[in-house]
Amino acid sequence: MGNAIDINGAVVLVTGANGGLGQEFVSQALALGATRVYASARTPREWDDTRVVPLALDVTDPESVALAAASAQDVTVVINNAGASNGASVAGTGTRALRDLFDVNFFGALTVADTFAPVLKANGGGALLNVLSVLSWLGIGDGYSATKAALWSATNTQRVQLAHQGTLVTSLHLGYTDTPMTAGVDAPKNDPADVVAQAYAGLAEGSYEVLADDISRQVRPGSPPRSRRSTRSWSSPETTATSKIDEAPGPLDLGLRRLRGCRDSNPEPSDP
Ligand SMILES: NC(=O)c1ccc[n+]([C@@H]2O[C@H](COP(=O)([O-])OP(=O)(O)OC[C@H]3O[C@@H](n4cnc5c(N)ncnc54)[C@H](OP(=O)(O)O)[C@@H]3O)[C@@H](O)[C@H]2O)c1
Repeated sequence: MGNAIDINGAVVLVTGANGGLGQEFVSQALALGATRVYASARTPREWDDTRVVPLALDVTDPESVALAAASAQDVTVVINNAGASNGASVAGTGTRALRDLFDVNFFGALTVADTFAPVLKANGGGALLNVLSVLSWLGIGDGYSATKAALWSATNTQRVQLAHQGTLVTSLHLGYTDTPMTAGVDAPKNDPADVVAQAYAGLAEGSYEVLADDISRQVRPGSPPRSRRSTRSWSSPETTATSKIDEAPGPLDLGLRRLRGCRDSNPEPSDP
């Protein structure tokens, strides 16, 4: 656990604020008592609350991020929410698309974090919330998974790097959620309002990770074995291939089975 972050009285900056989760991050910050919310987007829109400041910010353009930071020097909570999904593959012909996706989901998020870290420091530490995915731990999203896995690793490093300035660094993990990103997906989806409520509750508790749904809690490396009764299925937003997690052993099950096999053949195993 890190420092507890209360949104009441906070100054929040949301990237990708026009998106499904982005709009929820803005609305719920207002409902929780934020004094100001910078609703940043590539094409900022108007909001009907005087506490909202629309701000131009393209996460792939460092100059744009720096300009936004220069005009938002009072930020205490950064919601690194902007993200994209373009079907990029880690294999062969997908290289250009993969670089584009890393520019948004990985380098863009790092640019925002780097640029706003001094602002957070100047304002007492605050919090950085990186919006990741259950696909940080599952490769079934192909290139998208790679971007979220890389950002999970970077988030863990940022948590250590920014600890000295008192900044809470939290990752948010979720499966399918009902936003424009998953408009073409026919599967059970989270309510974005529920995901965002859990994210802010996690900040209030000083959590390092927020696992916003069952699939994230089941897949997270080190999570307890999932319930056999679960019937939810998962497919990545980028592919149509589905993987019914309860019909095939998941990564956790496979890992546990290997571990058990090792212990069966070595009655007194040493700790790893
Ligand atoms: N929905 C899901 O099932 C799901 C699951 C796991 C994780 N996530 C993650 O949740 C976050 C929010 O996604 P969402 O579901 O709310 O999707 P969304 O509705 O498509 O919103 C994504 C937002 O990111 C913005 N964006 C894209 N590229 C940008 C850039 N270069 N600079 C600034 N903003 C940019 C988009 O802006 P424009 O409006 O200008 O296009 C859009 O507003 C993403 O990081 C996504 O990867 C979503």
